[in-house]
Amino acid sequence: MSTIQGSTTPRAIQTMQWALNPIGYMETNRRRYGDFFTAPISPLSDDSFVFVNHPEALQYILTHDSTPELSAPGEPNRIVEPLLGSRSLILLSGADHRRHRKLVMPPFHGERLKVYGELICNITKEVAATWQPGVSFVARQSMQTITMRVILQAVFGLAQGERYEQLQVSLTQRLDMVSSPLASLLLFFPFLQKDLGTWSPGHRVQQVSGECDRIIYDEIRERRTQDNSHRTDVLSLLLAARDDQGEGLDDVSLRDELMTLLVAGHETTATALTWALYWIYSRPDIYQRLMEELKSCDASDPLAMTRLPYLNAVCNETLRIYPVAMLTFPRQADQDFELQGHPIAAGTYLMGCIYLIHQHPEVYQHPQEFNPDRFLEKTYSPYEFIPFGNGVRRCVGSALAQMELNLVLATILLTRSLEFVGKQPVRPQRRGLTLGSSPVMLQCSGYGAIG
Ligand code: HEM
Repeated sequence: MSTIQGSTTPRAIQTMQWALNPIGYMETNRRRYGDFFTAPISPLSDDSFVFVNHPEALQYILTHDSTPELSAPGEPNRIVEPLLGSRSLILLSGADHRRHRKLVMPPFHGERLKVYGELICNITKEVAATWQPGVSFVARQSMQTITMRVILQAVFGLAQGERYEQLQVSLTQRLDMVSSPLASLLLFFPFLQKDLGTWSPGHRVQQVSGECDRIIYDEIRERRTQDNSHRTDVLSLLLAARDDQGEGLDDVSLRDELMTLLVAGHETTATALTWALYWIYSRPDIYQRLMEELKSCDASDPLAMTRLPYLNAVCNETLRIYPVAMLTFPRQADQDFELQGHPIAAGTYLMGCIYLIHQHPEVYQHPQEFNPDRFLEKTYSPYEFIPFGNGVRRCVGSALAQMELNLVLATILLTRSLEFVGKQPVRPQRRGLTLGSSPVMLQCSGYGAIG
């Protein structure tokens, strides 16, 4: 058996490297240590983290993450606590975590999901109508407006009104505060978020957080006084939920759960859409093939647009090459065990490194190349292509996100003509806890096939 190796650089410096240049950090360690390496990237504790970059090893971990050997505790995710609160699904463990997942899942799956199809197309058309011919725009801002409106509808059932507008503005401001690589240090070193006076970054963070909370609590209090029995949004379902003793959720738990879904549910999808637009409009071959495929599709049927093989392949390749979530949440070894010849000590945290698995040369030929055809030529296992994680913490919104990707892109392609006008090449860069891109600039040159 061989012990897992890793850099001996001090923890605070490795945390900085991971925060400022995550791709460099992952690639360098993989080159030096291979499919498993230790990564002390939590400044909050002495916890021992191991990055797992091999599909079979990750399959073992994620199919055993609710057994006496391994678990998926919320405790090591406390980096998100200042933003999402201690009652966020992401911070819950064990039975509490299972119960909350059951509560929030239904609106994001099955029949309920179909309801959002038309809504997503309409919101996309509204936003696309604001693009003026000849005037360039930042793709991310428009994509974020679309995904924010979709998630506000799913989570609150809010489609318009003053509170809806205010929440959009405050939430965007709050997330933008940690969006640049440098500002993300606020997340990794949480003492920087403390209010140390008017000029400290923490002061502004606290101000904007307070504003978001005020709006969410106002909505919760108002909805408690209403009959929500006919409504199917997440807030209504959470308000109706009762535990074994007949107790409902308190306001703080509700706020934390809503904030979690709002944040997890729109930032990620907006990033993936931005990348997809970049690939489509900077690669004429891809654009032409998508337009050919869309010609044969009934544009008034959202369901048909989610079943287009080449569009699906473009979306998958977008999520493969620069996965928005670079890592799964940590899984903890609760006993000593052996993983592909490596001893894992009880207490170790194992993180699936989605980025390095998606770049694994044994799985993907020429992994640095954007090539949607690979998804038409081969079926990858759910541990080789794993943008949404797996196991007991698999992404709650994966089905909604995949549907949004297809529908937003198809609607834009059909209704507007766009050109990529930014600086080449667009590069991946950290955005908060996720992997975003340098700015993608687009310009509208007119209406599309049915615009
Ligand atoms: C392209 C878009 C998205 C990507 C790439 C993504 C990716 C992920 C990943 C990798 C995880 C961790 C899974 C694991 O540890 O095994 C996760 C968890 C989660 N995602 Fe997503 N996600 C996306 C969109 C969404 C949306 C639309 C929602 C909202 C409905 C959402 C809500 C969540 C929540 C609540 C969790 C935590 C689950 C738990 O702790 O049990 N995500 N996501």
